[in-house]
Amino acid sequence: MRKKIVAGNWKMNKTLQEGVALATELKDILAVEKPNCEVVIGTPFIHLATVSELLKDSVIAVSAQNCASKASGAYTGEVSAAMVKSTGAEYVILGHSERREYYNETPEILKEKVDLALENGLKIIFCIGESLAQREANEQEAVCKAELVGSVFHLSPEQWKNIVIAYEPIWAIGTGKTATADQAEEIHAYIRKCVAEVYGAEAAEDTTILYGGSCKASNAPELFAKPDIDGGLIGGASLKAPDFKGIIDAWK
Ligand code: 13P
Repeated sequence: MRKKIVAGNWKMNKTLQEGVALATELKDILAVEKPNCEVVIGTPFIHLATVSELLKDSVIAVSAQNCASKASGAYTGEVSAAMVKSTGAEYVILGHSERREYYNETPEILKEKVDLALENGLKIIFCIGESLAQREANEQEAVCKAELVGSVFHLSPEQWKNIVIAYEPIWAIGTGKTATADQAEEIHAYIRKCVAEVYGAEAAEDTTILYGGSCKASNAPELFAKPDIDGGLIGGASLKAPDFKGIIDAWK
């Protein structure tokens, strides 16, 4: 059985104190009412150690939002996969469209990050998804497949077990314009088919594929009811505990 996951991506939001307050609130809420899925929060780097310590004995796992494409050395300002791991974080989000677009992260760079994250024992939430122009040209399948081929399909079957895919259509991120459940299911099923072609049907069945893009408590139940949608990667609605909890409750 593949894992159901609701993951928050805080992006560049929350000071350390605000982040600790949010993580504490979530921890307390989920201690009272156990979630029916795995819960992950993706914090900025500077929060990782404190929030990981805070959530050590909780049901919530912690994720970084990025790591360096180099192992160590003279790369001022960068944070390595080993450093992320040493904070107690379990996951790293890689390939987010904002990093591809604003920080010029190419498939080759992402492949290096993926390899380093796995070498250092991190699990990866790997993001893929098309732009509006690509959707309008009906290129969404080709785009998603190319992003998988470019950065993760070189992995061994054993390594693949540490990969979670997040399908995030760029036109749905932060726009309030969610993909319909049918639109999302169609591409999730296609992504699973691509995984099956490389890793086999059983591995594809076990692969968690999240939807991301204006997912909120009101639309999560319909999205998560689809057979190939295994949860969500949540931006805006992960910044307030009750909103995020509302999405987690979609699995109830
Ligand atoms: P929003 O939920 O704010 O649309 O962001 C989605 C996202 O990019 C998560 O990584």
